[in-house]
Amino acid sequence: MGWLGLEFGMGDFVLDVNGAPLSVSCSPDETLLSVLRNRLNLTGTKYGCGEGKCAACTVLMDGQATRSCLTTVDSVGKAKIVTIEGLERNGRLSAVQEAFLEEGAFQCGYCTSGMILGATSLLHEHPHPTDSQIVEAMEGHVCRCGTYPRIVEAVKRASRSQTQGVGR
Ligand code: FES
Ligand code: FES
Repeated sequence: MGWLGLEFGMGDFVLDVNGAPLSVSCSPDETLLSVLRNRLNLTGTKYGCGEGKCAACTVLMDGQATRSCLTTVDSVGKAKIVTIEGLERNGRLSAVQEAFLEEGAFQCGYCTSGMILGATSLLHEHPHPTDSQIVEAMEGHVCRCGTYPRIVEAVKRASRSQTQGVGR
């Protein structure tokens, strides 16, 4: 906050987050990660490295997995943002969320929001991914707990359940 409570270089932005228009006043170069966590209280999106190397901060922008720590708020425009808080519908988890639970694909859970959104993006693009497509898509996601084999199983389970019409 600047002199007499004024912040200089501020802008007003309306972001489409989880299907709702949300207004924020902030610097245009503030990261989407900071806006989500610190201004909109959507703390499911995690701060890991802050420099694009861990994918803990992954959200969907128009369906594409995107590092929110590398995305400035003024670059978002009209893109539809989906965070982990926006995946459930009427109290039902998404197929990917269910699959992560069923497979126990996390320990501390710090990387899990980003993993789930990364997997959601992959399954949009490739509903039936091969093992190597899963590994390639998820490669940039770091899990300090080392749950990678279970994460691969969770993505496969989600793919199967979507095919069977279970979940989304
Ligand atoms: S916090 Fe964004 S990639 Fe690590
Ligand atoms: S479950 Fe702990 S970092 Fe992935």
